[in-house]
Formats: sequence, structure tokens, C-alpha cells
Amino acid sequence: MWRLVFVLAAGLTLAVVPMWPQGRGRGAATPQGPWMDAKLSPDERASLLLKEMTLDEKIQMLHGGPGGGRGAASDAAPTVEQLTQRLVATRSNGGAGFIPGIARLGIPDLQMADAATGVTRGNARSRYSTALPSNLAAACSWDPKLAFEYGALIGRELRDQGYNMSLGGGVNIMRDPRNGRNFEYWGEDPILAGYLDGQSIKGVQAQGVMGDVKHFAFNDQETGRNIGDVKMADKRVMRETDLLAFEIALRESDAAAVMCAYNKLNGDWACENSYLLNDVLKKAWGHKGFVLSDWGGTHSTTKAALAGLDIEMPGSTYFAGALKKAVEGGEVPMTRIDDMVRRILRSEFALGLFDRPPVQQVVDVFGGFELAQRVAESSIVLLKNASSQLPLNAASVQSIAVIGSHADVGVPSGGGSAQVLPPGGNAVKAAPGGRGGAVYYPSSPLKAIRAKAPRAKVEYNDGTDPAAAAALAKRSSVAIVFCAQPTSEGRDVPSLQLPDKLDELVAAVAAANPHTIVVLETGGPVAMPWIEKTNAVLEAWYPGIRGAEAIAGILFGDVNPSAKTTVTFAKSDADWPHEKVFGPPPSVAPAADAAGGGRGGRGGTAPFDITYTEGLKVGYKWFDAENKDPLFAFGHGLSYTTFAYSGLRVTASTGGVQVSFTLKNNGKREGVEIAQVYAGLPASTNEPPRRLVGWQRVPLAAGESKTVTIPVGGFHLSVFNAEKDGWELVPGEYQVSVGASSRNLALKAAVSLGR
Ligand code: BGC
Repeated sequence: MWRLVFVLAAGLTLAVVPMWPQGRGRGAATPQGPWMDAKLSPDERASLLLKEMTLDEKIQMLHGGPGGGRGAASDAAPTVEQLTQRLVATRSNGGAGFIPGIARLGIPDLQMADAATGVTRGNARSRYSTALPSNLAAACSWDPKLAFEYGALIGRELRDQGYNMSLGGGVNIMRDPRNGRNFEYWGEDPILAGYLDGQSIKGVQAQGVMGDVKHFAFNDQETGRNIGDVKMADKRVMRETDLLAFEIALRESDAAAVMCAYNKLNGDWACENSYLLNDVLKKAWGHKGFVLSDWGGTHSTTKAALAGLDIEMPGSTYFAGALKKAVEGGEVPMTRIDDMVRRILRSEFALGLFDRPPVQQVVDVFGGFELAQRVAESSIVLLKNASSQLPLNAASVQSIAVIGSHADVGVPSGGGSAQVLPPGGNAVKAAPGGRGGAVYYPSSPLKAIRAKAPRAKVEYNDGTDPAAAAALAKRSSVAIVFCAQPTSEGRDVPSLQLPDKLDELVAAVAAANPHTIVVLETGGPVAMPWIEKTNAVLEAWYPGIRGAEAIAGILFGDVNPSAKTTVTFAKSDADWPHEKVFGPPPSVAPAADAAGGGRGGRGGTAPFDITYTEGLKVGYKWFDAENKDPLFAFGHGLSYTTFAYSGLRVTASTGGVQVSFTLKNNGKREGVEIAQVYAGLPASTNEPPRRLVGWQRVPLAAGESKTVTIPVGGFHLSVFNAEKDGWELVPGEYQVSVGASSRNLALKAAVSLGR
């Protein structure tokens, strides 16, 4: 094997080796060295290996290339950038990111893929990946085991495709319902989101793939994400809202990496924000892994290095030659470089990257279908079901009108870096000369409905002409209107209003047929001005590659819905703390790229502030504190059976409380109830009226009743004391309430703690 050593003008030396010595999947010998002793701890192994490394080798690990980059052609005096590009071109697996390893020491290449809802960029090598329902959908199952399976499937498919690091793991809470990336996150409650995201990353890492948690932190809108400065002075507010979700996700998963966000927080870019990276992440939470920047989110060398950033991605502007110079000039101590590299190495050892590198194979397509459908069935929320409109009776329904949103061919998905590509391309082909719209998976609601009701006449209307759709609805026994709201990274939706005049369509169809069912396929919550006129509403989110089959299963009652929404549905934008997404003042916003949110770009407008004024009152806490009636409350979701709550007992237990009650299935069919526990903290804490502190999915046969016990740890009842820089359980009376949603709490009891 040949080996070239380039000595660069900047003094940086990189060992460049030909294809595959790093991957070690192609017959190359296992590297030797004391650090290969798997009996040693990851930290011991990292220390042994670190001792062997030159400064240049260390620097090589601290920046990387975009996975799809092109290589430079000539060998003459390549720049660091070109060198990275060349390595990328020869060995990258085609994912979003790549960092060349070091063959001499057996350090593997880092092959990173975006993988929030499945492995992305399948087109890079004509690879197939399972498109799971969106993260927000999966969250509505409230099921930590399912979240683990979700991550485990992604981890397996990453390995099967030759990746050893995931870039999924988004846990920004829904602070703004119009955020274009809400579909990639787990809802508005930090405790629920943190646990579910944490379990999903744990599932990824259980496959020997490094996971990451992103976007750290407060990247809660896409508009101006590269220029916006989030203003939030109160440390207690930060720790109890967005940061709490990250804290729990990291604690649950022990994720290898954290991706810092694009935006600024209180004047400093998130990727050079010492409060976020050093004080909170590394010191307070004891994160032992590394921090990599969001793509293009690094803004400096010394400041970022000292603030806690470990890897610049992608590129080499700040963490290649410039970083070496900063070390040589004494601005960045060598101990900090060692700390960066140690964090990366110990994570690679901990996740088995040295000992069990991925071996490529064809992904388990059928296993993927099975899980995708199961997740969808557990995540589709039945929001309304007047007059027991659902389930439909396949034996008696005579005719069904299926209307709108390409329901003849597929179900939509979210766009941007999380986009899993559909097999065979977009099921909705762009009109000749037209621009591509949302990407649809080939899971056809029309076909799935026909399969469930073979005796019924099932007709489709595309919904572009409300009058024609209404005419079809009028001559049908029931009308099902599909309403897709495409959303994507890089842009927010302008308002809660459904796009493409869908509100008009639903109103017209509902006026023509009293048995109108709406199936929402949205990235986040939407307003429903027509709600009183429709009998049933199903929120299917972006339901993945088997979405249609899951929707049909619920429509016809083969599956009893059990999901509950993890975001509040407001009646209008004005009900939220901020009626619109933050943006630059109109005077400084140029017409083009006013959002400034293009992927990786710096945006085309002057910087602006994002001043969140709601304090602790995020999501349902705002609606509760301000006495606003939501359209559908956080935690709401119906079943085809009904449940009754009784017999609450709340007792103080070590550091927390034990909550038990009786839950009975009052109906005629089996079902699963997601029972929820909320706590109101002592008045002296000035907390919002209640917070979710526990939940359990309880399966019950018809007529069955069970005693349910939910332990609530003291941490979830605590407040963050900024002066003491720690969590504390404030002594006093706690109001515990239990029920079916944040606004349907049948049982209440008080308990004294800490006295
Ligand atoms: C996104 C990240 C993503 C990265 C790599 C960025 O634009 O914000 O979530 O991991 O691109 O594709």
C-alpha cells in the first residue's frame, strides 16, 4: 500500500492513504497497539492512543468534509481544504459528513449520515432506507420502548450501509408551532421529549453507531437560523425549558456527540458559547463525548476552541491550519487539543468503532415495513370523533370519496437534511417544467382504503376544485379529505393555516356531506376553522413508508388508536405567545431569502433578536397560565373505547412521590390508554400551573380494570435555582393530577414534600 505525506504551507502534515485502509471491512488487518485491548476502559484506551499521536494527526480529527464532496485533481501543493476534499472523494460513504481516520494507528474514518427519521441520501449509492414516521409522530406514542426500536432500526440501517455515526437526535422543543423542523423533534414538553429522544439515541448506539443530540441549543425556528440571536437572560428559564430536554436526552442515551446549533444565544454563537458548551454541557452535565458544529456553524478558532467546540463541520477554515497556529502561538493550550481528541477517541472506543466496524449488507426492508407501520399505528392521533363516525364499517359502507393531497398515490414527508428518499423517487411527479414540491412516499391511501372496503365504491378527487370535490362527496356515503402541510428545514410555515386553500376544500366537502372525516398529514399543529362542521379528525403527521396502511387500519377499526398529541393545537396564531415567527424588521429584510434560513447559508439579512418572553410558559404551560382554551390540548387523543379513572393515591416516597390509581376500560373493545400525571408546584415557586411529570401506556381488555402505579422522581418536581446553580425540591404542597390529557384531569390530590 502506498502512503503519501503532504507537508502543507501552513506546516500541517497529513498522512494520506489510499482507499479502504481505514474502514477495515475489506480484509485489512486489525490495527495493533495496547489501545486495542478491549478489556481496558474507553478512557484508558483513548489515553494510550493519544500518547502516540502527532499534533498534525490530532488536528486531522478536528475537522471534516461534507460527505458528497468532490476531489481535487492534482497532487501539487494541495491546501488543507483540497486534501480533505480528496479524502472525502476517495473514501466517503456519501453521507452528510466524513472525517478521515488515521491508518497508522487504526483510527477509523468517521462516516456520518443524517438519520432523524431514517438514513438519508439513499441516492448516493442507490441505497434503500426505511422511512419511519416523523419524530413528532413517534413522540405521540409516548412509548419509550418504541422510541428505542425506532432508533435501533435506524442504527442497524446505518451500519448496514457502512456508517458509524448518526446525525439524528434532534430534541429542540416546540416553542413555535410554525417551526419548519418541528417534525424532526419530539413535541413541546422537555421531559417527554428528552426521554423519547434519549431512548431513540440509545437504540442507535446499541447497534455500535455513535449517536448525537442536536441542535444545541434554542434553534427553535428556521427563519434566520444563521443570524438570529436568541435572548434569554434567565438561567432558570433556560435550564427548565429547552436545556432540560437536552439534559434528559443525554442522560438517557449517553450520546457520543452533541451538535451545536446555528443561532446565537445571548450574543454568542451557539458553537462558541462557553455557557452552553463548557458550563452546562461539559461541566454541569458531565458530557464525556464531543461537540461538533452544525454544518457551517463554526465562526472562530480560538474563541470556539476555548468555548468547548471540538470539531468544525464541514470544512477547515477554523479547526485545521488556523487551529495548529493557535496552538503554536499559545492561544489554545495543547491540553485543550488533547481534550478534544480524547473525547472523540473515547466515544469511538465506547461504541465499538475500533473493535466492531460496520459490515455492509442489504437492509432488512421487510423488518423496516413492519416497524414503520407499527410506529404509525401508535402515533396517529384521533383528535375528534363525533357521533362515533369512526371506525368505518367495511361491510356496510357503500361509497367513499377520497379527496385531496395526492392521496391516490402517497403520503408526504418532511424536507431538508432529514429527508429519507422514497424508493423509485417521489410518488408525486413534478409537472413538466414545474418545481418539485413535497416528497411523497409510495404508500397510497386510496389503495389502502380500497383494500379495506372491497365492496364499497371508492372514488378519488384531487381536491384542486372544491366544487368538484364537494359533488363527489355529496354522492358518497362518507368523505375523507386528506390535508397535507409540507414543511422543511430551512423555512418556517407562515401561519397555522393549512396551505393550498385546504380549509376551503374541507369546508366545501363538509357542507356537502355530514359524514366528513379529515386526515391531517402535517409537520406540526394547524388551525381548523372548519372543526365544528366535520365529524372526525385524524392527525397522521408524516406517517412514513407504511403510512397509508396505518391510516386505513385506524379508519376501519382494525387498529384502535392510542396516540396522544405532544403539541398543543391552538385555535389561532394569536393564542401563542408570539403571533408570528421572529424575523428581521421589514426595513432590513431584502425580498430574496428574507428567511435567511437556507441550509448552511448565512442568510441574506441583517442579524436580529429572537426575544422569547414566555419564560417558563412554553407550550401547554402558556395556555394553562394564560387561561386560553386550546383547540386540542397537549396530551389529548381519543380511542374507540373509553377509559375511567378512579381511586387516586399519592404518597411521598424517597425524594419524590408514588402515584397510583385505578384505570378501567369501559368499552367493548380492547385499547391502550396513555395515562398522564401532572404536578402543580408550591405557589412560592412561581411555576406555571402544571407540568407533566409521569405517564404510562396501559393496555386494557374490554371491561378490564387495573391498578396503575407511576413513580415520580424528585428531579421532575424540582426547580432550577440559578443562584445555587443546581436543582432543588422546594418544600411545600404539591398538587398532583391524573387523567387523559393536560386538560382532562379526572383525579386530583395534594401531597406535602420536603417538610
Ligand atoms: C442541519 C443539520 C444536519 C446538517 C448536515 C444542517 O443544515 O441543520 O441538522 O445534520 O445540515 O446535513
